[in-house]
Formats: sequence, C-alpha cells, structure tokens
Amino acid sequence: MPIIKDHKTDGLPFSDSPKLKARNVNVFYGEKQAIYDVSLDIGANEVIALIGPSGCGKSTFLRCLNRMNDTIEICRVDGQILLDDDDIYGSKVDVVPLRARVGMVFQKPNPFPKSIFDNVAYGPRIHGLVEHRDELHEIVENSLKRAGLWNEVKDRLHAPGTGLSGGQQQRLCIARTIAVDPEVILMDEPCSALDPIATAKIEELIDELRENYTIAIVTHSMQQAARVSQRTAYFHMGQLIEVNPTDLVFTTPQHSLTEAYITGRFG
Ligand SMILES: Nc1ncnc2c1ncn2[C@@H]1O[C@H](COP(=O)(O)OP(=O)(O)OP(=O)(O)O)[C@@H](O)[C@H]1O
Ligand SMILES: [Mg+2]
Repeated sequence: MPIIKDHKTDGLPFSDSPKLKARNVNVFYGEKQAIYDVSLDIGANEVIALIGPSGCGKSTFLRCLNRMNDTIEICRVDGQILLDDDDIYGSKVDVVPLRARVGMVFQKPNPFPKSIFDNVAYGPRIHGLVEHRDELHEIVENSLKRAGLWNEVKDRLHAPGTGLSGGQQQRLCIARTIAVDPEVILMDEPCSALDPIATAKIEELIDELRENYTIAIVTHSMQQAARVSQRTAYFHMGQLIEVNPTDLVFTTPQHSLTEAYITGRFG
C-alpha cells in the first residue's frame, strides 16, 4: 500500500520542453510494489536530481528510463515512458539502440577489462557508428576530452582501463557513455565512491554536459543536488512527493516529508 493514499505530486513535475515523459509509472518486484503512480517530465538540457531515503525507489525509477529493469527477471514496469513522444516500452523497440540514446553511469565505476581506448571505442563499434579507424580515433579523443580525462590518459590509451584511479575510471565510464552520442544520461550516485576532488571534476563535467544532454542524477548528497541540478524530485517509499526548482526544495520545501528529509530527520 502507498503510504499516502491518492497522493498527487506537489510542485512542478512537468516541463515545458520535455525530453522524457513518465506517466503513471508503477514498478513491481514480484508481488512487492516499489514505485507508485509516478508521473514526471525530464526537460531537455536540464539536470534533474532524484533524492530520497535509501530504498525509496530512486534507482528503480531511474532504471525504468532506459529499460534497465528489463534485466531483472522479477521486475515489472507499468505505465508509460515516452522519449520524444515515442513509447520506449513499445513492442517494436530494440533496447540496444535505446540504451545508446539513453545512457547510464553507475555508482561503481565499471570499465570493461579492456584498454582505455577500447572502453571508449566499444559503443561506437557495436553500434556501427564508424567506418574508418581515423574516425574512431577522433570519437575516442573527443569523448575523453569532454569527459575531462584526455590529458591524463593520452599517453597510455592502450593501458587497461581498470588500472586508472576510481575518479578516472568514473570519467572513463562517462566518456564511454558519451562516445555513442546519447540524448539522455542517467547517473546513479556517480560520485559515491569518489573523493572530493574527483567529485568536483564530475560535477563540473555534469554542468558542461547539460548544454548538449539531458541528465537525471540520483544522489544522497544534498549539496551535490544543489550544485548540479535545476530541479529536484523527492521520492519517499516509492511515491514522488514533490518536484520543484532545486533552490526552492532546499530552502522552502512544499511538502512536510521533503522538509523532514532535507533537515535530516530521516534518510
Ligand atoms: N532487484 C531487486 N529485487 C527485488 N527488490 C528490489 C530489487 N531492487 C530494488 N528492490 C526493492 O525496491 C525498493 C526500491 O529500491 P531502490 O534500489 O530503487 O531504492 P533506492 O532509492 O535506489 O535506494 P538506495 O538509496 O539505497 O540506493 C526497495 O524496497 C528494494 O528492496
Ligand atoms: Mg539506489
């Protein structure tokens, strides 16, 4: 049972220029419901932060947005998710190109056991985005530059990606994600394993990426949400309680549950 019956999300869950639209999304793991009737737009070129106590469904909701939940056998997603008005759960949708359009960066950096170059080249290769080796080199170089990693790795592109530091590995994973030119990037606590310097680099990068991409980021750090996002969505026990401009959420939250969370009464 939802904790608040017939809850309607407070604030501004919808956008004037939506890139992704979630409508009446319910998610179940077997019999257990993890997301209750969530409707939310993610606007073009915005960074939206998803926050809330552990277990409230942030990762589950994020994974709905590129059908990552398909990989969990007991997981069932109801409702509608539209990417540029196309239903991503449509019967004809192939998840491989979908996940290139809606890329994902995980909590723990997960470079492939391949060279730095091959990690970034992987996507363009499997999606057949390149015909010539020169072109591939250019994509790899550009992606590493945009991820702020090029200068640190340009002399060792053929060294294993797993040999980099944690923060470098996370930027490598971001380079790998942007190498296929996605439209949306989903990030699930991308900095939780990083030190403050590496975190600052990723946050700077997020701000730059917003020019070209739409970004949804899950974070447990309210400071991070405040630094990188324009809107913040507060989840509580599977319900989307409130969505508002980030500065409002952290100064004058509209819902008492949001207030309780941001003032540290739970979570
Ligand atoms: N693979 C799974 N199988 C069964 N239940 C799951 C699975 N993944 C998540 N859940 C359940 O769904 C609910 C939401 O979990 P989810 O991981 O989305 O929360 P979260 O907000 O991301 O938490 P955290 O902040 O700890 O990462 C929880 O009750 C969790 O136990
Ligand atoms: Mg999570």
